[in-house]
Amino acid sequence: MRKPMIAGNWKMHLNRADAAKLAASIKNGLDPQLKHEVLLAVSFTNLESVRKEISSSPILLSAQNMCWEEKGAFTGEVSPVQLKDAGCDYVIIGHSERRKIFMETDEMLNKKVKAAFKFSLKVIFCIGETLEERENQKTYRVLQTQLNEGLKGLSEQDLTNLVIAYEPVWAIGTGKTATPEQAQDAHIFVRKEIERMFGAGTAAAMRILYGGSVKAENIDELMAQPDIDGALVGGESLKADKFLRVIHYQPVLSK
Ligand code: PGA
Repeated sequence: MRKPMIAGNWKMHLNRADAAKLAASIKNGLDPQLKHEVLLAVSFTNLESVRKEISSSPILLSAQNMCWEEKGAFTGEVSPVQLKDAGCDYVIIGHSERRKIFMETDEMLNKKVKAAFKFSLKVIFCIGETLEERENQKTYRVLQTQLNEGLKGLSEQDLTNLVIAYEPVWAIGTGKTATPEQAQDAHIFVRKEIERMFGAGTAAAMRILYGGSVKAENIDELMAQPDIDGALVGGESLKADKFLRVIHYQPVLSK
């Protein structure tokens, strides 16, 4: 059985006080019986205030990016060792905003994933196609390349510390969610590819989150799909009541 994960990606939002306040509201609203994982990915400057707030709760702490080097002359970068020291459990690697705006390549992302594991950080590894790629029937090819290149040289053991987030770029921040069927279809492809690369056991255990305009209104249908194991939530995770509704989803089939 794969344990679902609902992850909030706060991106470059909130100051320390507001981040702590939002983390507290989410913590206080959690059903104590909740069986799945909840994670908050926050800006570097907010790691400490959020960490303090969630330290007595099951909520996991994540950074949104990191450098692949341990230390040294890399002005402006943050290392896996520093993230570990700041209390991070996870780091997001390969978010489409990092790939597109900051031109992070598959090769860089592969180095980052390896560095995270070297220093005992778990990874949410993001993949996804653009609208143009989807319209040109290149979705599978793009996902395959991102997985093959990004996860090159990793072991089956490494993969137990990795969660994949499938986030179609055209659905991020646009209000345009993939249909549950489109998401399920991509997730099946990703799982098959993981099976081809790392074997059936790794594929069956791999958590694959969906991301891209996940809302309180659409989470129930998404989570009813057998290969959707959770969600990476941007905008909706900045509103405590909405995000709490996402966290406490009730899977229902559409129609
Ligand atoms: P969104 O962002 O939910 O605001 O579309 C998702 C993400 O970028 O992780």
